[in-house]
Amino acid sequence: MNGNILVVDDDPNVVEIISKSLDREGYVTESAYDGEDALVKVELFDPDLIILDTVLPKIDGFQVCSRILSNEKNCDIPIVMMSDDILLDLPMEAFKYGAKEIIKKPFSVTEIVAKINNYFLNADAKKDIRERNQFLEMELQKGRSDYDSVSRELKRKILNLRTLSDLSQDLNKLQEPQETIHVLSLTFIGHLGISSVAIFNTESLDTGKLTFAGGMGVQDNILRTLSFSRDSKLIEYLIENGGVVDLAAHNIPREAMEEKKFLFNLGFKYCFLMVVKSNLVGIILVGEKINNQNYSENDLEMFNFLCHSAAIGLANSRLYSELQSTYLSTINVLVSTIEAKDPYTNGHTKRVAKYANLLAEEIGLSKKEQEIVSFGATLHDIGKLGVYENILNKSSELTEKEWKVIKSHPEIGSNIIKGMKFLESARDLVRHHHERLDGSGYPDGLEGDEISIGARIVAIADSFDAMTSDRPYRKALSYKEGINQLMNQTDKFDKEIIQHLVNLVNSGRIHE
Ligand SMILES: [Fe+2]
Ligand SMILES: [Fe+2]
Repeated sequence: MNGNILVVDDDPNVVEIISKSLDREGYVTESAYDGEDALVKVELFDPDLIILDTVLPKIDGFQVCSRILSNEKNCDIPIVMMSDDILLDLPMEAFKYGAKEIIKKPFSVTEIVAKINNYFLNADAKKDIRERNQFLEMELQKGRSDYDSVSRELKRKILNLRTLSDLSQDLNKLQEPQETIHVLSLTFIGHLGISSVAIFNTESLDTGKLTFAGGMGVQDNILRTLSFSRDSKLIEYLIENGGVVDLAAHNIPREAMEEKKFLFNLGFKYCFLMVVKSNLVGIILVGEKINNQNYSENDLEMFNFLCHSAAIGLANSRLYSELQSTYLSTINVLVSTIEAKDPYTNGHTKRVAKYANLLAEEIGLSKKEQEIVSFGATLHDIGKLGVYENILNKSSELTEKEWKVIKSHPEIGSNIIKGMKFLESARDLVRHHHERLDGSGYPDGLEGDEISIGARIVAIADSFDAMTSDRPYRKALSYKEGINQLMNQTDKFDKEIIQHLVNLVNSGRIHE
């Protein structure tokens, strides 16, 4: 057995007998013969157990026991008390002072040794259990912290996936490249906690130059002066390097170093590539994270993926925009055909489109609705392509039959653009621009709310221009007279839209 045992008794014989027996068992013993000596030896010897007589010179055993245990350093030392006192309450007294065991004199040495051995065996077993518990507790703690970190990582990944999915959905809804740039910038700043972002894109898929398209938290005036060539070394390196470059890194090819340094000095930390089907769409530069932490592998992986989604979104919105301008040139060709056929109405279509666009904006229609009004107004008389020129250009009064032909132009117009998907929503405006609120219009004799707001706008713009333009059979009215005429016909024309027209004329946005 191992262990230090202090044996305290005023009778040297007793101390000797006990000490020798314990020495034989492998314990290391120390002796003390009075209370004061015992307290000193406790400090010097650092015992694992104390055998203490109750009756001692100088300080009695109970006081010694109490003083040892009141010291925080020694409070765990087990104390076995011995006494030849035969009073019945002795054990109670000893336990009250903190003793673990009581042995009555005269004692059997074998009994003492057996009790001490037993005590140390129990203490070892307890120590084992305590250590095992501590080990299990540590394992549990580690498990908990592993679980917490996995759980945190999982939550972060879910959040990232949600951001990506939100962004993809948002990008799919967008049609204007500028809106796409704006949503991208907002995503980087708002969702991803980046302090600054700048987006450079190619003006079209064929041009080789990347110019500043937008961003947030950046100095626009400096960035607008920058451009990157598609063949620049930095772009080349981005492509070779999997689409991302750490602008603080030193292992960048010398040729790309100057551009890299310049961007780093502007506060950017990383540069990402936007590519669709190996066509370069642009690059995204990001500054520090708002929490000042470094970019992790996960961040870079996620941003790279995001840049890929952004590239698709941007390429789509650019295609949409190019498609829009193709549509517009198709419409302009159609319009010039009408104007060529009906010289008396020269410029009519353009003016009607201008008035209708201003009205749609003034009323506060959405961008999409304004676009429909614009198409509808531009094409409102396209049906005149199907009316004989001699009727259109006739300066004398029209016969009833000729009027009937003229009145068929909204229907013909609506049929002409039927099947042209991008003009589908404008068909209603073409067909119904001669409808009147009181039901007196044509071709369908619609009344009140049956006539859409777009058709009402075109009707007012069309009539206002007809009134204020010269015709072979009469002179043009002034704008003021034109408005008065419309005001006198609020049973036919929408009063509120007329009021918007008055505002536009009064503010000079529509002028003679
Ligand atoms: Fe018309
Ligand atoms: Fe017209």
